[in-house]
Parts: sequence; structure tokens; C-alpha cells
Amino acid sequence: MLSLILTLDHRRIEELVNIFIDNPSIYIYNEIRRSYINHVYWEEEFLFKEVKDSNLLPIIKSLEIEHGSMWMILDKIKTSEGESIREKMESFMRILLEHDGAEEGSVYQYLESLTEEEQAKLILEEIKITTPPANWKCKALS
Ligand SMILES: [Fe+2]
Ligand SMILES: [Fe+2]
Repeated sequence: MLSLILTLDHRRIEELVNIFIDNPSIYIYNEIRRSYINHVYWEEEFLFKEVKDSNLLPIIKSLEIEHGSMWMILDKIKTSEGESIREKMESFMRILLEHDGAEEGSVYQYLESLTEEEQAKLILEEIKITTPPANWKCKALS
């Protein structure tokens, strides 16, 4: 279950990146950055810490280094202009596709081997930090 949710989040972020490359906009950029940081936060602060297989530790180390490289590219896009915006997002995407594939073939497989309850607790960590849209109200008050 956990692996499927994470994999769908990869596809969602990759789709946003494709939309940006076709037609760059600050709105999509902000959505990519927010989604990317949220995903990486979940991985580094909760999911990777659950991995007890020492064979996966070097992979996790390189995944964390890639997180940093991609984060820096996203930051550079914000202060770039013209065609270099698209070129930088294309290089972000090249790293992202490799990275996502590596996670899906390693750490995510491990997470999938955890019990249902363990996986549910890790999903709960992500639910804890979600916030509803700013103007949303419950039915009785809207
Ligand atoms: Fe990652
Ligand atoms: Fe990921």
C-alpha cells in the first residue's frame, strides 16, 4: 500500500514537471516545489528511518544527496530567466526520473514488506501535516 501511494506521488510530481516544461508558470513552479519538499520530508524524516536492511544504507545515502541536488536546481529556477528556466527544469526532471525509479526498485519494496499497521502509521505522519485549502469550511458553516 505504502509503495503504491509513494509511486503515485512520483507520477503526480513528474506530471507537474511536464506541465511546467510545456508552459512554465509560477503557479505550477510553486506546486512542484511544495509537493517535492513535502515528499522529501516524508521520506527523510519518517520512511528512510524505518529501513533496517544495511544493504540499503548506501542507496539511501545517494538518494539523500540527490534530494539536495534537485532542491538546489529548483531554487536556481526561481531566480532564472528566459530559456534557462526550461533547461534547468529539464535537468531537474532527468535526475528525478532516475531517482524515482531507484526508490521504487529498492526502498519502497522494503517499506512494502512492513506490516499493514506499520505502513498505516507512516501514512499517518503524512496526514498529520496536510492542511485543507485556506477558505474551506465544514458543510454546516459554508
Ligand atoms: Fe526521494
Ligand atoms: Fe520518492
